[in-house]
Amino acid sequence: MTPINEVIINNNTQINPIWIMRQAGRYLPEFREIRSKNPDFIKLCLNERLSSEITLQPLKRFELDAAIIFSDILMVPYGLNQKVEFKKNVGPLLGEIDIKEISKIDEIDFVERLYPIYKAINLTKDNHILENKNLIGFIGAPWTLLVYMLNMQSPKKKLKDNFFKDEFLINRILLILERFLKVHIKNQVDNGAQIIQIFDSWAGLLDEKDLPSYAYIPTLNLVNYTKSLKIPVICFPRGIKDYKNYCDIVKPNAICIDYDVNPIEIQKKIKIPVQGGMNPKVLLTDKVNLKKEATKYLDIFKDHPYIFNLGHGVLPETDPNMMDYLVKTIKDY
Ligand code: CP3
Repeated sequence: MTPINEVIINNNTQINPIWIMRQAGRYLPEFREIRSKNPDFIKLCLNERLSSEITLQPLKRFELDAAIIFSDILMVPYGLNQKVEFKKNVGPLLGEIDIKEISKIDEIDFVERLYPIYKAINLTKDNHILENKNLIGFIGAPWTLLVYMLNMQSPKKKLKDNFFKDEFLINRILLILERFLKVHIKNQVDNGAQIIQIFDSWAGLLDEKDLPSYAYIPTLNLVNYTKSLKIPVICFPRGIKDYKNYCDIVKPNAICIDYDVNPIEIQKKIKIPVQGGMNPKVLLTDKVNLKKEATKYLDIFKDHPYIFNLGHGVLPETDPNMMDYLVKTIKDY
């Protein structure tokens, strides 16, 4: 069994596998080289050969225990025919949502638009570098995708005051997303994804009272669906205050925590396997501090099934040598 499956399935506390969110990305010169020749990010995500190559780049450098397929959560709105582009120094920009257009899409259109992603997974899965390691597929949670689809760009720190004004539209979009996210999960799994991570990057924007309708229930349906395919699922509800309640209701196989929560509290309250937590900014400091902070997480979770990761994606300004040192520190613990 792979180290990550040992932790997630067998609750093994003796090993600490590691992978890093956004491990294939802008902090790697080899990624930036490909990116500079491919200014259209969506097209890059739909280039199965390059997507596969980028997916494996970090594994060629570091002793990581998983690869995460190079793609983006916003490929799903793209698959639903919403306009999506990535602007340099701005981030994602989406077009106005046309609910009539989106309602017309069927599964065949959707899969046809995203087919290269599934092909990239298929191309990657048998690579010898992945021996005894996992290939992770992913989706954005319905709530986070809804935020991008309605807000048309990153919401930064808060939602617009009138975000919830059209509840009918919101519920329709959430139902459409649930249906197509299942299709997206199924096609990733059928092509070789062995674990699914659900990114709810904007869960922290929800008031406590809105968590059940927008975060818990829509995600629970997708967690149950993924489990029905016999595939473990990791949830990352970034920024929520009460991770314990989330785990009790949504019941993922493992929970990924952000860097704003106290890992000691998490360790005490949560019984399921835990992933992540360390602030990505620690990688911008020095080796002494990096070792101290990484070891802190390993010490806290030493009798708990734990997968090392960060509390959000690795920052573009990270020195790859620091990543190398981090991976070695975890392996030598
Ligand atoms: O983790 C990986 O290495 C796999 C690939 C991956 C990307 N995005 C590649 C990417 C994954 C898993 C994602 C998830 C994603 N995308 C999330 C959830 C995680 C999170 O960060 O909260 C979100 C919210 C997005 C949406 C998105 N994509 C934003 C806001 C941006 C621009 C800002 C940023 O952080 O870079 C992207 C672009 C993006 N996605 C890049 C990469 C490598 C950078 C593209 C570039 O300009 O070169």
